[in-house]
Amino acid sequence: MVGFEQDIRPLFREFDRTEMEFAFDLWSYEDVKEHADSILERLEAGDMPCDLPWSEEQIERFRQWMAEGMQP
Ligand code: HEM
Repeated sequence: MVGFEQDIRPLFREFDRTEMEFAFDLWSYEDVKEHADSILERLEAGDMPCDLPWSEEQIERFRQWMAEGMQP
């Protein structure tokens, strides 16, 4: 089972969090849950993070977290 605290939050760097503060808090379970669809969309498009796209393995972990009902 993929969990936010254990598997998802560590994927977001302090830089990601700071840059995205205008829209949501990437270290907040509630925020990432609420914006999961648009976050996944941008990860898959490869344009977020702005500097270094995630690997397919990282994106798959996020997808799995969503598929399992976004556990804390
Ligand atoms: C894993 C990390 C990141 C994720 C998941 C992410 C996700 C997103 C999402 C979902 C939006 C659309 C927000 C909205 O319209 O409400 C967005 C916008 C934006 N992000 Fe990120 N972001 C990440 C990291 C970064 C980084 C490192 C930068 C570097 C500067 C950045 C810069 C921006 C900017 C400037 C926008 C607004 C312009 C646009 O929509 O393209 N983001 N991001």
